[in-house]
Amino acid sequence: MQLSLEQEAKIKELMAVMTLDEKIGQLNQASVSIVGGFDVPFEELIEMMTDGRISQDEFHKIMATTIKDYHEEEIKQGLVGSMMVQNPATSNRLQRIAVEESRLGIPLIIGLDVIHGYKTVFPIALAEAGSFDRDLLKRTAQMAAKESRADGIHWHFAPMLDVSRDARWGRVSEGGGEDPYLMSQFAKAKVEGLQNDQSSHLNYVAACLKHYVGYGAAEGGRDYNTVTMSESLLRNVYLAPFRAAVEAGAATVMAAFNDMNGVPCTVNRELLTDKLRYEFGFDGFVVSDANAIRECVAHGIAADEADAGAQSLNAGLDMDMGTEIYLNTLKESLAAGTVSIDTIDQAVERILRVKMWLGLFDHPYVEEVENDDLLEVNRALALDSAKSSLVLLKNKDDLLPLAKETKISLIGDLANMPSEVAGAWAISFREKDCVSLVDGITKEFPNSRYFEVGGLETPINEAALQEAFDYADVVVLVAGELVSMSGEATSRATISMPGQQSQLFAALEKLNKPSVAVLMNGRPMAIEKEVDQVDAIIEAWHLGIEMGHAVAQTLSGQNNPSAKLTVSFPRVSGQCPIYYNHPNTGRPAGRSKFTSKYMDVSHEPLFSFGYGLSYSSFAFDNVNLEETEDQILISLDVENLSQRDGQEVVQVYVTDKVGSLVRPVKELKAFEKVSVPAGGKESLQLVISKQDLGFWNNQGDYCLEDGDFVFEVTNGHYNTIKFEKTIQF
Ligand code: GLC
Repeated sequence: MQLSLEQEAKIKELMAVMTLDEKIGQLNQASVSIVGGFDVPFEELIEMMTDGRISQDEFHKIMATTIKDYHEEEIKQGLVGSMMVQNPATSNRLQRIAVEESRLGIPLIIGLDVIHGYKTVFPIALAEAGSFDRDLLKRTAQMAAKESRADGIHWHFAPMLDVSRDARWGRVSEGGGEDPYLMSQFAKAKVEGLQNDQSSHLNYVAACLKHYVGYGAAEGGRDYNTVTMSESLLRNVYLAPFRAAVEAGAATVMAAFNDMNGVPCTVNRELLTDKLRYEFGFDGFVVSDANAIRECVAHGIAADEADAGAQSLNAGLDMDMGTEIYLNTLKESLAAGTVSIDTIDQAVERILRVKMWLGLFDHPYVEEVENDDLLEVNRALALDSAKSSLVLLKNKDDLLPLAKETKISLIGDLANMPSEVAGAWAISFREKDCVSLVDGITKEFPNSRYFEVGGLETPINEAALQEAFDYADVVVLVAGELVSMSGEATSRATISMPGQQSQLFAALEKLNKPSVAVLMNGRPMAIEKEVDQVDAIIEAWHLGIEMGHAVAQTLSGQNNPSAKLTVSFPRVSGQCPIYYNHPNTGRPAGRSKFTSKYMDVSHEPLFSFGYGLSYSSFAFDNVNLEETEDQILISLDVENLSQRDGQEVVQVYVTDKVGSLVRPVKELKAFEKVSVPAGGKESLQLVISKQDLGFWNNQGDYCLEDGDFVFEVTNGHYNTIKFEKTIQF
């Protein structure tokens, strides 16, 4: 993080005059609780809004009221360094107290969960990473930064970089899926999008890499559960995106709730300091996850809150989110000698540097504008991102796209729930901005009708279903999960279709009319049966405010689907965890009984990472591989054999055939998305640095081992060309 000499001097001056209370105040992100009778942490407030126990307006009122009654005095005394706020008036009010009424006038850093868009909500990360479009990933982050900074939010608790191989874990929705290379590219694009446009202080925010580290490997896919893994797995898979994002200049990191091999990340010095700072070169600040310092007592790693606070600070955790343990115990710990003033100073300085880098000392306030309708340019990007993120999984006999005059019967409760398009962790959007699938499809197909047949939260209405079937040329079923079924604290042991939705698939199988399923979900689902019961399937995830238009334009062919899966789909829940880049084992699944497989279900996924169809078909011609001193260059022509403009994602997977550790059967090492006009051909080149053909061993060494490698060039299903090459490093 580069600061000017003047800025560095300003920080030194402040450090020299700050009292101990003021220093500890900077380490304190005040918790948010509800005044008036009950005390609810922020994330539960989110949940209450998500599942409808409180409305959005009530949520905003609570946020404003809470903070007014709960922290103004502390801010005035310089005892608060950060808050979570999500409206400009509150942000300005609190900031004025910090800047104009406290002794030193140090501005607050205002953070918020802006995970996939602020008011303009984009697809959930699990979907958007599937666009395999680095530039798009960066542009949506850039827009989210600008939109939220204008509201006085300086810090996003994003991007979420938890590689996840287990769909039972509901937070798989928040990150870029199961592959460390794709997640690393996602990480880089997001950090650059959030932070790099510093042409004005209103154009950028601080990114926050979370949850550092290994949270996605929670045992059993159960949220907050214990995590155990080898050093080589930690480094090759779970740390990789964080290393990439630190190299991209990320300003902050959030420590994860979970333990890593018995040491909670919150107090894990080897992770927070040795790896993150000394090895990766991270120079920003680390914040705990909500309430996580207090939870070190429950973990059984700290005897009491003071012990938890001292261990956290000494491990390299700079800011306390929501417990005020730093505020209430660090002076006592300092006196007891369990923390040093140098450690406190170091944490304070890291936080002041990020505040300075954000321009908060010069620009602490924002303009409070009345009219806050979404800009057309925002909507346009939301639509573009949504169209680029949905995956065509099945299209029997090219049923799709459908002619605009098709009589469509649209069924499925989720189709008529506008706010459900926003997905998990969308907390700042307005329902009025959301386009439901009913909105989108009835606009795109004048002869389409929506039939309230129930099946998700209410029993199926057989009469309405029959009416739908009688009317239809084609039935479109929207099925999947409510937003409240994915995201934090939503682990499900059985990831099949909730409610009676499976019965709707079964009814479609019996109906001898063409049928399409549009999946609306935040995780892969175990739909082995359902997949055979309909003719076409679009995996639409939660695509954000423009979801209705994106799905409708895909059904009509105005949009040619181009995304790929970022996670493998299990056939049944019992296959979890399931992922493509697995080791081979000594007995890879085969005909013999005595090989690694199940007796009752195939060992193969229902759909694999990297898979996705298009309305176009493409040929890969002139595929060539060339080795230079430092790189592997793969060049090819992609020809569009159809009469429809389309895009293809060329992927290169590498297999290291023999290593000093068992290696994955294959690993994604390069990808490029290419647009090819109808009947046209585009040439492209993909580059793999030989340095990336190595791996970390369990001693923490990076190994580049001579040997035979296979390079597979593919589009995720029919186009696959392989090269075998002996590489000498
Ligand atoms: C939550 C989440 C984290 C979020 C934080 C603040 O518990 O784990 O992702 O950023 O608290 O809301």
